[in-house]
Amino acid sequence: MYLSLSLAALAATTPLVACTSLAPRQAQKVTIDLSKNYQTIDGFGISAAFQRANLIVNLKEPKQTELLNLLWNTTTGAGFSILRNGIGSTTDSNSDHMNTILPKCPSSPDGTPNYVWDGKDSGQLWLSQKAWAYGVRTFYANAWSAPGCMKTNGNDANGGSLCGVSGAKCNSGDWRQAFANYLVKYIQLYADAGVKVTHVGFLNEPDFTASYAGMLSSGTQAADFIKVLYPTLQKNNLSDVGINCCDGTGWSVSSQHASQIAAAGAENMVYAITSHEYSSRISGVMRTTRRVWQTEYSDLNGGWSTAWYSNGGAGDGFTWANTVFNGIVQSNLTAYIFWEGVQDRATNNNNNEKLILVDGQSYTVSKRLWAFAQWRIVRPGAVRVGASGGSNLKSGAFVNKDGSVAVVIINSGTSAQTVSVAVTGGTVATPSVKAWVTDTSKDMVAVDVTVAADGSASASVSGRGMISFLITPGAA
Ligand SMILES: *[C@@H]1O[C@H](CO)[C@@H](O)[C@H](O)[C@H]1NC(C)=O
Ligand SMILES: *[C@@H]1O[C@H](CO)[C@@H](O)[C@H](O)[C@H]1NC(C)=O
Ligand SMILES: *[C@@H]1O[C@H](CO)[C@@H](O)[C@H](O)[C@H]1NC(C)=O
Repeated sequence: MYLSLSLAALAATTPLVACTSLAPRQAQKVTIDLSKNYQTIDGFGISAAFQRANLIVNLKEPKQTELLNLLWNTTTGAGFSILRNGIGSTTDSNSDHMNTILPKCPSSPDGTPNYVWDGKDSGQLWLSQKAWAYGVRTFYANAWSAPGCMKTNGNDANGGSLCGVSGAKCNSGDWRQAFANYLVKYIQLYADAGVKVTHVGFLNEPDFTASYAGMLSSGTQAADFIKVLYPTLQKNNLSDVGINCCDGTGWSVSSQHASQIAAAGAENMVYAITSHEYSSRISGVMRTTRRVWQTEYSDLNGGWSTAWYSNGGAGDGFTWANTVFNGIVQSNLTAYIFWEGVQDRATNNNNNEKLILVDGQSYTVSKRLWAFAQWRIVRPGAVRVGASGGSNLKSGAFVNKDGSVAVVIINSGTSAQTVSVAVTGGTVATPSVKAWVTDTSKDMVAVDVTVAADGSASASVSGRGMISFLITPGAA
């Protein structure tokens, strides 16, 4: 308001030519309101399912460590805080298959299972251990399907349902308890290897019949299994592992899953409703009392691009800045997970579904990774607070558990702006402020910050750039 009044006054007395790019622009003011509290953030992440993790396992040093830093380092990389692993269901490791720990079911559901653990889990155990060493503590273990021997179609691919859920009767019996035990076994194997799985899912795109691993399910059928899985986790001292469901192909179907799970009385057994963004994009706030995660999305169609901005292409870094913003700030998500962290050149005609292209012993980083890096100052457990103001600016603000205030801002305008951030509704004692920018030429690069007498912090960001401020309280 103050700004538009002063501009109007200026226009009345001064020819407009005074506003050339050489004249210092007035700062665009973003006001943070600490008294307004919204959702608690679980984090940001990637997957390396379908043996993509092996691309990193097979890299030689120093590239391997460079790549791990790009993904997990909170001061030099994207600082991701979630890893989504695929729980394998396939009986072999051919191609990009994720192999199961139960290649052969016992002849009846209550028979003793013969689990086979290769200590690799398609490269994902190694990547999980590395991520753990970087401080990652959120591991989402997600089965695309039950082993085929527990399903109506006897195959872990090509659809089919879990024997025992409503509408899915099998001559071999009800395999729900056996599948729950199987998921518990997987979690225990990870725990034995030093990685605490925090969330478990048992479906991937259950509204889509895939030629690869997958299992069909409605929200109602998912609830039939959740009612078995939940007490099984409790009995095994795993009540702190959250059940996520159901990784639908898009927002509409996932909203349907949420309401069906609620109608079936299983909502309170779920940690997060999980959605992808392929068949319908995230818009508005989902009707559920649970947390909501976006667990898989990417540009599957575009050819490999490392651009920050190329006319708003689906693979542009700037597009992803806005996509994550839409989910976290406008749609109440508590987690946003990109699809593949890494992928090779050959898969899917070298498309944009990865953040980093690993090509044998070399790699190339896309700007999508740096769009995510701008969010790395928002740590797990942060609470979103109010943020508003500034022309052509989209802003989100968060109070981290350590008391620091993280502000993530997108400049939607085409010209550079000075952004000034002011905290209201509370105070940050003796603050120190840092800011980072990503744009066409910068990758989460620290920029100069000026702190005014009134405590507001300002820095500049280029047109279609992204700027993040971290306001840290000093020693008391
Ligand atoms: C992150 O990168 C910094 C700078 O290179 C390095 O000092 C630090 O050890 C890295 N963090 C981890 C956990 O490796
Ligand atoms: C149960 O789990 C907790 C934390 O996950 C652990 O500290 C404890 O030792 C476990 N107890 C048993 C009996 O396994
Ligand atoms: C946002 O999600 C949280 C759970 O993360 C929920 O408690 C809250 O009610 C949701 N807000 C709205 C407006 O639906």
